[in-house]
Amino acid sequence: MRDILISPSILSADFACLGEEIRAIDHAGADMIHIDVMDGHFVPNLTFGPPVIEKLRPHTKKPFDVHLMIAPVDPFIHAFAKAGADILTVHPEAGAHLHRTLQAIRAAGMKPGVALNPATPASIIEPVIDDIDLVLVMSVNPGFGGQAFIESQLRKVEQLRQMIDRTGRDIILEIDGGLNAETSPRAISAGVTAIVAGSAVFKGGPTAYADNIRALRPSV
Ligand code: DX5
Ligand code: ZN
Repeated sequence: MRDILISPSILSADFACLGEEIRAIDHAGADMIHIDVMDGHFVPNLTFGPPVIEKLRPHTKKPFDVHLMIAPVDPFIHAFAKAGADILTVHPEAGAHLHRTLQAIRAAGMKPGVALNPATPASIIEPVIDDIDLVLVMSVNPGFGGQAFIESQLRKVEQLRQMIDRTGRDIILEIDGGLNAETSPRAISAGVTAIVAGSAVFKGGPTAYADNIRALRPSV
């Protein structure tokens, strides 16, 4: 069994005390911190950008797994690097030159990731698979937490698992949207190595976070 990384999405945290929330999920067993950046244009919702991420950086040593739902991406790459992003994940639809964007993310010292919307095929990864460290399968349409898991994405996870295994490289295969104690084990069986969860982690407040994170891991 592969090690599974749990990356709580702070989209479901209390935005009035994000620093405390990040410390709480760190102590509760989070492996990474998933940070959803939305621009109200690429997706129909707004969150925050590099200045907020920079202020959050001192609150944990865990990697910042930053999911960009913005267009364009390229003018902001350096700002996210400076703010402390470790992984920077982009949607192919956000710009005309995916390969150039991934190279720029790497050159800025971050790990590049590609996010696939529910209707975006696994095959889009093929020409850039040697240039990325993470593939993110969206199992909801991006923009909001608390949506229902889209079952058809498990087939895409299986396809990506085969593509990644053929490279022999340790590319993280992450899934995001509608993950909970019921859907997470099925995604893991299909081949993911990282689970993003917002509502399933933050429900019940800080005293519940450790149990909520544990419920997403496969039982041994
Ligand atoms: C949606 C975001 C997700 C979201 C997941 O656009 O990318 O990270 O926070 O929320 P849940 O886990 O509640 O579906
Ligand atoms: Zn996300």
